[in-house]
Amino acid sequence: MQAGLTFTLWKEIVMMLHIPGVLSREQVQAMRASLPASAWTDGKETVGEQGAQVKRNRQLPASSPLRQQLGDIVLAALARNPVFFAAALPLRIEPPLFNCYEGGEHYGLHVDGAMRKQHDGSYLRTDVSSTLFLCDPEEYEGGELVVVDTYGTHEVKLPAGDMIVYPSTSLHRVEPVTRGARICSFFWTQSMVRDDARRGMLFELDQTIQTLRGRIGDCAEVLTLTGHYHNLLRQWSEA
Ligand code: NI
Repeated sequence: MQAGLTFTLWKEIVMMLHIPGVLSREQVQAMRASLPASAWTDGKETVGEQGAQVKRNRQLPASSPLRQQLGDIVLAALARNPVFFAAALPLRIEPPLFNCYEGGEHYGLHVDGAMRKQHDGSYLRTDVSSTLFLCDPEEYEGGELVVVDTYGTHEVKLPAGDMIVYPSTSLHRVEPVTRGARICSFFWTQSMVRDDARRGMLFELDQTIQTLRGRIGDCAEVLTLTGHYHNLLRQWSEA
């Protein structure tokens, strides 16, 4: 029974982690208001050969000042979010990008490129993918993010300001948007722990320790578990 429970938690909470309220309603509204229709260009800019064949959407150009300004707001929100830190264990985060799907636009099944060249010429390894929704589900039809992993197919469509975090090793797609527009921010994280399963176990251990600490305080057992968390992170981290 216990193993089954653990398996479920790992699969549902860690593989596809929903983090609510990464941005406030006010922040989402301000971002939306600053995005003119003319800001969007072809989304093929940031994709490799396989992705380009199945990608039909638009993005803010990576080099645009607006993309940078809005991306900085997302990065500041991530820095204040302990759940994102515990789940992704970020070593480096690529500056967030923004995309828009409407009028049937979609992104067919693909895998995100493993290594992404950065402005300074270095490479960032994509371990964790994140999508931060900037529109509410009622505003558009379709547009589900569909992630296919070892355990099946998961459909995601979240309230504005909420974020989904999932392993970059998964195949995924975005369904056609047949009414309204779907606007999201998305970005990749190189994690201190590249292995999805190890990162998942560390997250579950961390969350369990937090729960126990809240329930029974900093007793000797909680301290021991905390020690194991840090010693495992020390063994597995690449930072
Ligand atoms: Ni992708």
